[in-house]
Amino acid sequence: MKYFIEVWGCQMNEHDAETLGGLIEKKGFTKADNYNDAQLIVLHTCCIRAKAEDKVIGRIGALSKLKKKRPEMIIAVGGCMTQQEEVAKYIEKRFDKVDIIYGTHNLNEFDNLLSTVMENKSQVKSISDADQMDIREYIPITRNDKLKAFVNIIYGCNNYCSYCIVPYVRGREKSREIAYIVEEVKELLDSGFKDITLLGQNVNSYGKDFKDETNFSMLLKELDRLGDYRLRFMSSHPRDFDLELVDTIKNTKNVCHQIHLPLQSGSDKIIKEMNRGYTKEHYLALTEYIYKVMPEATISTDIIVGFPGETENDFLDTMDVVENVGYDQAYMFMYSIREGTRAAKMENQVPEETKKERFHRLLELQKKKSLERNSEMQGKIYEVLVEGLGEKNRLTGRTRGNKVINFKGDISLEGELVMVKVTDYNTWSLYGELIGE
Ligand code: SAH
Ligand code: SF4
Ligand code: F3S
Repeated sequence: MKYFIEVWGCQMNEHDAETLGGLIEKKGFTKADNYNDAQLIVLHTCCIRAKAEDKVIGRIGALSKLKKKRPEMIIAVGGCMTQQEEVAKYIEKRFDKVDIIYGTHNLNEFDNLLSTVMENKSQVKSISDADQMDIREYIPITRNDKLKAFVNIIYGCNNYCSYCIVPYVRGREKSREIAYIVEEVKELLDSGFKDITLLGQNVNSYGKDFKDETNFSMLLKELDRLGDYRLRFMSSHPRDFDLELVDTIKNTKNVCHQIHLPLQSGSDKIIKEMNRGYTKEHYLALTEYIYKVMPEATISTDIIVGFPGETENDFLDTMDVVENVGYDQAYMFMYSIREGTRAAKMENQVPEETKKERFHRLLELQKKKSLERNSEMQGKIYEVLVEGLGEKNRLTGRTRGNKVINFKGDISLEGELVMVKVTDYNTWSLYGELIGE
């Protein structure tokens, strides 16, 4: 029996799908390469924007048709989208071919849900309260990569940014015990992983729900002792990212000087309406300090355009921050109304046309900045972890700043650290040559 998981959304969801894979393989299934070879198909969903949800509904429709021809097929749909009660009800009613519907905290019992369906041939639905999470340890995780691995450190989010659905579908923050995190990272390093990313909606909140003094800086220092490797984390919240943390990153040997610092908006008025709790000035001072302490740091961000009430001047504030910081990468989104959030009820919604027009201006500016950032790397030498073959049969790998460089070399170098000199670049790519060959 084979299974296939399709996953939408953030890295946390991607990692959840690896956990699902582990539980499914425990039941004797092996991974299929596509839908057609699989008896079990899982759609692990996201609801951050309307577009993400529309795609999933389309996919369930197509799979329901396929199931008419292959009635033995099992279809499961779950994750953030089905954690919303009305959506779960809609899917249950509208698509009787769906066998399993599970919530964000119920993926931990997926092995049991699967057994029920296989034994009773009936539809099952299991959705717990988003705030009721029991962290389950020692799940055998199927890793999608041999060098890079994700490790959860904190689940849920307490921030309630006014546009965002995540706190409603992922529940309140719950940190994972430091001992389990250390154990998982140790095991990963022992089995050859070289690049570890710690995951949380707001990693800077790590430990705040514990009774003791544990915090994110302490966790980084503890993990730094475990060997020689690359340690990353995401996402950070500009409100909670203190200067001491910047110093910690600087003073550890393994933590990469790569920071994902979502801006969302550069306008103080909009940042306030978004309930983000910082100002443009604070944000700029923070990025300035990061570059001062770690001049070679790379910074990336998330930005929303067209939040309710955003005027041309507010938007220009966002453009100003993008111009000033010089992000290596920016993920940009048009504001999407999410029912149940505070911003959905705001009356001054921005017309779609304006959102599109601003989005394109921002995109053009970021393209210019990405090119500028890449040009600064020209002629310099970087330590690259070789990931494998990329375009045109060249090797591809990442710097500690998470920049991808393509270069000629032998595939036997896969998994090795090599030194590469950047010889060419464009907006999206960097090219180089191996040093010492
Ligand atoms: N916890 C992370 C990101 C979570 S979602 C953080 O706070 O940084 C990823 C990104 O999706 C957000 O940073 C935001 O830019 C975007 N996003 C969230 N809700 C959105 C909405 N309603 N419309 C458009 N973009 C949204
Ligand atoms: Fe959403 Fe804000 Fe939490 Fe990020 S910090 S998940 S944007 S509520
Ligand atoms: Fe989407 Fe859920 Fe992540 S809504 S962005 S998959 S936390």
